[in-house]
Amino acid sequence: MAAYKLLLLPGDGIGPEIMAEAEKLVAFLSAAGVAAFETEKGLVGGAAYDAHGVAISEGDMALAQSADAVLLAAVGGPKWDGVPYDVRPEAGLLRLRKDLGLFANLRPAICYPALVDASSLKPDLVDGLDIMIVRELTGGVYFGEPKEITDLGNGQKRGVDTQVYETYEIERIARVAFELARKRSNRVTSSEKSNVMKSGLLWREVVTALHARDYSDVKLDHMLADSLGMQLVRRPKQFDVIVTDNLFGDLLSDVASMLTGSLGMLPSASLGGEDAATGKRKALYEPVHGSAPDIAGKGLANPIAMIGSVVMALRYSFGLTAVADAVDKAIADVLAAGLRTADIAAGGATVSTSEMGDAILAELKKTFG
Ligand code: NAD
Ligand code: IPM
Ligand code: MN
Repeated sequence: MAAYKLLLLPGDGIGPEIMAEAEKLVAFLSAAGVAAFETEKGLVGGAAYDAHGVAISEGDMALAQSADAVLLAAVGGPKWDGVPYDVRPEAGLLRLRKDLGLFANLRPAICYPALVDASSLKPDLVDGLDIMIVRELTGGVYFGEPKEITDLGNGQKRGVDTQVYETYEIERIARVAFELARKRSNRVTSSEKSNVMKSGLLWREVVTALHARDYSDVKLDHMLADSLGMQLVRRPKQFDVIVTDNLFGDLLSDVASMLTGSLGMLPSASLGGEDAATGKRKALYEPVHGSAPDIAGKGLANPIAMIGSVVMALRYSFGLTAVADAVDKAIADVLAAGLRTADIAAGGATVSTSEMGDAILAELKKTFG
């Protein structure tokens, strides 16, 4: 069996702690003969800045380009608050997304049955919740030009970010959303602020036209992004697939995370387009959360978002659906058995990051022992 090449980028804060749990899983799957993985490690974020003075080195970018998939844990933290903008930790992550062409960010928010009481909403509002947020990841205000602070010379400065979307960028992300919806409950909610923003107006126009042309079998709604934020915490189960831009997708996925119990539960997949010759797509898998500086180094971090990101790699990069299902089931079973990291414990008994990772592995060994 040819080995899949994985690049591991632990990053900063809780990053190395949760990556250690992902590594255990990958090593177990290789040792059990379920799938062969070859792993390499690189530096990103503050860790790369401390070592090389950049947010990611050219060498690690080359490894990312040649890997079958990248696993990234988290970047950033107060230690690097004062570093120049271009080499701040987050710049490493943004460069990976842009240079690898990872325009489609899939952020599933699933409430495990055992965690209905951990959510900040009433149990009946989240019981059975399964939303897929499809966030555009390489465009919009994150990357639009100009992006600058200029000195106006009168004691004032002007900070500028630019929201830009072109037809093809909207069309390809909407296509991803419609295709996913067909494999789920066949409903897409597209979200922007077409009442205020020109790019939002174009977004709605392009999504509507693509729907009429190629996806009229899918139910499509449009919802202004502010209203969608409200509906997410009012009646979240009305949603199946949500497709939205880079910034709104960032905000709305953090909101959605609390429906599942914790930001520490949400994995993500960032996917590029299919290569016409090989059929392969570039991919990076990472939790939705950040480096959680407030709990770093204490063994308190929930590793499930990171482990869930490995599960998404099994699904979306390697087509190992049965293995992915087995890991998902192991997570659900461990939660059903009552194991909780502090973020989902609601004041009850807790286990550490590595105890949670070990328990999931022990459960998995029942399937692939
Ligand atoms: P954060 O996501 O790091 O933390 C927000 C809150 O959620 C904190 O209270 C934290 O303890 C908690 N939390 C996050 N992940 C958790 C986990 N796995 N288990 C338990 N609790 C968890 O957001 P922040 O504090 O606003 O940002 C910290 C740094 O992370 C910043 O530098 C930010 O830029 C960066 N960041 C990086 C990424 C990424 O690498 N993909 C994502 C978001 C933020
Ligand atoms: C995320 C993060 C990143 C983003 C930051 C760290 C650049 O918040 O992945 O959600 O804003 O996209
Ligand atoms: Mn975010």
